Amino acid sequence: MQNIKLQRTTAPKEKPNEDKLGFGQIFTDHMYIMDYDEGRGWHDPRIVPYGPLSLDPSAMVFHYAQEMFEGLKAYHTGDGRVLLFRPDRNAQRAENSCKRLCIPPVPQEDFINAIKTVVSVDRDWIPTKPGTSLYIRPFIIATDNHLGVHPSLSYKFLVILSPSGAYYASGLDPVKIWIEDDYVRAVRGGIGEAKAGGNYAASLKAQEKSDAEGYAQVLWLDGVERKYIEEVGSMNIFFKIAGKVVTPKLNGSILPGVTRASCLDLCRHWGLEVEERRISVEELVSAARDGSLDECFGSGTAAVISPVGVLRFGDEVMEISGGGIGPLSQRLYDTVTGIQTGRIEDEFGWTVEVK
Ligand code: COI
Repeated sequence: MQNIKLQRTTAPKEKPNEDKLGFGQIFTDHMYIMDYDEGRGWHDPRIVPYGPLSLDPSAMVFHYAQEMFEGLKAYHTGDGRVLLFRPDRNAQRAENSCKRLCIPPVPQEDFINAIKTVVSVDRDWIPTKPGTSLYIRPFIIATDNHLGVHPSLSYKFLVILSPSGAYYASGLDPVKIWIEDDYVRAVRGGIGEAKAGGNYAASLKAQEKSDAEGYAQVLWLDGVERKYIEEVGSMNIFFKIAGKVVTPKLNGSILPGVTRASCLDLCRHWGLEVEERRISVEELVSAARDGSLDECFGSGTAAVISPVGVLRFGDEVMEISGGGIGPLSQRLYDTVTGIQTGRIEDEFGWTVEVK
């Protein structure tokens, strides 16, 4: 296990009002940093006061986006414990993203230990109100000062922490989603299944378009035929069609979400019929028209379970579950957040305590 040096802040900040947290706007007193240099590997892990980085303007991350990130959360339980939810899944996915982006992976044990240690240092920042948590953002950036296009030989791995409330301003109220058939997010063989900042940069133009129409997020179609459902801007997507739980199969351009995997596990555990497969937008439109589209919801670390009340594709506006929260969305939300916060017994061994 790595020995992480700790330099505590001498100027602790005031804690935020838990009623007005929003998402990802406030940062705690400390952050974790570790450096990578060719020949030395990952070295010098440390926790320091949260603050700006000093990077050369030629640092490769600014030019060619050699960067990856993760997202997970720490939760307060009612009895004073702090829990992480499936951090091993994030560590594994981080390793996969690094490999795809030619970034030397942080060993999974060190990745999890970094998170546990910095969360433990800033544990007083974990909000306690229902629906709040400490959002954890690990990320790696390429820091070589060079404009040639090739993998960097030096990197920084950081973990920053943000006390957060609901991702959507509407909370658990159903969101309206715009199905985009002009812009695409990713193609198979590209970096769609890596958690890379570049995927999100590619999503902004369509997000702007959907915002202008009054929609909360974009639902992406596949990048080749623009016909099959992939994922939403910040979450995976599920449907309940004619009694079956259906979600797009992971195909190389879809992010393999931790909450997605947990929803699938729970639905199977409850004995529901579950399908991971291709879903065409025509299938959705006809299911909405014939009344068999029972429910739609997104799943993600930040978004948790986010019911979808309206889907729009061209001129077709599909209202789902009467615009309200469907029973499966509510059950998954209650169960996932119950396990995350220790209110429901964790029979799957998904939670990890931070001491
Ligand atoms: C997360 O859910 O953790 C994400 O990374 C989505 C993010 C883009 C807000």
